[in-house]
Amino acid sequence: MEEKKKYYITTPIYYPSDKLHIGHSYCTVAADTMARYKRLRDYDVMFLTGTDEHGQKIERIATAQGVTPQAYVDNIVAGIKELWKALDISYDDFIRTTEPRHEKIVQKIFTKLYEQGDIYKSEYEGWYCTPCETFFTEHQLKDGKCPDCGRDVELLKEESYFFRLSKYQDRLIEHIKNNPEFIFPQSRQNEMLNNFLIPGLEDLAVSRTSFKWGIPVEFDPGHIVYVWVDALSNYITALGWGTEHDEKYQKYWPADCHLVGKEIVRFHSIIWPAILMALGLPLPKQIFGHGWLIIDGGKMSKSKGNIVDPKFLVDKYGLDSIRYFLMREISFGQDGNFSNEALINRINSDLANDLGNLVSRTVGMVEKYFGGAIPADLKTGEFDHSLIMTSLKTVNKVEELMDKMLFSDALSEIWAFIRRTNKYIDENEPWVLIKDESKKDLLANALYNVCESIRIISVLIEPFMPETPAKMREQIGITDPEICKWETTKIWGLYPICTPVKKGAALFPRIDVKKELAELEEAMKAAQAASVAAQLAEEEPEKKPEITIDDFDKIELKVGVVLASENVKKSKKLLKNTVKIGNEERIILSGISQHYTPEEMVGKRVVVVTNLAPRKMMGEVSHGMILCAEDSEGRLSLITPQRDEFEDGSEVR
Ligand code: MSP
Repeated sequence: MEEKKKYYITTPIYYPSDKLHIGHSYCTVAADTMARYKRLRDYDVMFLTGTDEHGQKIERIATAQGVTPQAYVDNIVAGIKELWKALDISYDDFIRTTEPRHEKIVQKIFTKLYEQGDIYKSEYEGWYCTPCETFFTEHQLKDGKCPDCGRDVELLKEESYFFRLSKYQDRLIEHIKNNPEFIFPQSRQNEMLNNFLIPGLEDLAVSRTSFKWGIPVEFDPGHIVYVWVDALSNYITALGWGTEHDEKYQKYWPADCHLVGKEIVRFHSIIWPAILMALGLPLPKQIFGHGWLIIDGGKMSKSKGNIVDPKFLVDKYGLDSIRYFLMREISFGQDGNFSNEALINRINSDLANDLGNLVSRTVGMVEKYFGGAIPADLKTGEFDHSLIMTSLKTVNKVEELMDKMLFSDALSEIWAFIRRTNKYIDENEPWVLIKDESKKDLLANALYNVCESIRIISVLIEPFMPETPAKMREQIGITDPEICKWETTKIWGLYPICTPVKKGAALFPRIDVKKELAELEEAMKAAQAASVAAQLAEEEPEKKPEITIDDFDKIELKVGVVLASENVKKSKKLLKNTVKIGNEERIILSGISQHYTPEEMVGKRVVVVTNLAPRKMMGEVSHGMILCAEDSEGRLSLITPQRDEFEDGSEVR
């Protein structure tokens, strides 16, 4: 038996968020549509999606909520899986970057690249926010300040491992030029070449020491593998690459398509291929960068209320309406606009009027004119040829467009065929033919051809709409799955003669636009009010979880006196203090140089946390912490014993 052709498609792995909106669903629905299409074309399909679960942000949110990062992501990922279920996403595997099957191989990749010299140790320079303990790039800053807390940041250096991205620049350019389909659409290819590759690539920092929630570097566990090596590797770790069980890798790699949003094309078409080159592995066949679904001309966000909540929309309008809208509204390479009005108009015109009406009027006429089944006696009519030719042309065109992932154009072709079929009914005027007994065979033929069109349409829309094809077939009485296969769309006349039809509920009930928009407006106002309230609640200062006296007892606090103080050379914030605490002297770094000069510090009696683990900052080691109070404007004040000359070394309790 001939082996099936394979097809491997991936979505990006999603950041765990309980705020996934309808825009996020676009990419997964598109990949699902393609996977369903290829299965229908008898390919052996592997469709992968998953979640990208590491990083400082997750660590911080989890801590603020008083849960472990693992517990936090487990909960969110369960919600994401629910969402994909609601959208009927037919993925074959769901990879989580916190799974051992992923983590172990990421470590292996990192070590291999290090051992062969593609990863080396150096220093990473970035803008550091001390209270948030986070590095930011220049363009992430908001008005030169920390984008998270709004405070001052300083240019700092951190030890980091670097990947030799620059080494692969020429090979990447050559690959892109020799493989015009590698980055799609063409406009994104030009952007990658002109904006990044030709001006020159810099080596990439691929580890961090400033947080812990990630995969530790095997040979240097103080370092965490930074986002892109961790995240991008999912496309091969899910296939078992690098393990004894790499059958899936052998079968499915290279990927046929990494489907990604336009903003992450660069990571997929430059960093990922360079990593693969370094590993000596083949490159994916295509990186497809799709446009965005935007709302009111701006970026989509869940704070715009539940109108962009995919679950809300599916519950309200039905799964197939939402999937149809998503695939129809974003045209090739462009952004698409989301509005409730656009959605309702599409449902009314394309789904209720064109498709729904075609099925209900046809079944209605077969019932009314022939008691529920078209008789066998058919006579060819003058409009048949044009309808049959349109059908065949449509199938060819749809195949061509689907191979290029031009979903919207493919749907547009299918809908042109639906409209052509509706027009064929009007041309034949069954309501006139019925009046003439001698034209019964012409009438039977016309209705037969319409049912045959409906059969073919039900197959063509199957990749896009998981629910509607079965409903259509039920109404025109098709029970044989053999005549619902893709290849049967190329053969006219397979609808079985004398099939009993059965009128069912309207496929897509019409929506009263005015009433619906007014209701949605109300719902949106309520959601916005709720979101403002939630935001206000979020702005309340974080409360730390309650601790016991035993917890408090673990902290050793003592009075110290500052003997000497100086600025730390590379830092704008740090003072290096020599502090006497009873019989010992210690070096303690403090981020207070914008509030106290070294001269002011000398002689001050301070409260010191003496049993804090030593910590390296800007090349100096701090042995303890000097306590300060901070007011709402960020001003710092030292905490000192109230009695002058209070003996240093005294315990603070
Ligand atoms: N975790 C990274 C991807 C790593 S892949 C190795 C990431 N995650 S994400 O959750 O932020 O985004 C997931 C996908 O959703 C991206 O492809 C992104 O482009 C897509 N979308 C997010 N908002 C979108 C719209 N408004 N419209 C269409 N797609 C959008 O990036």
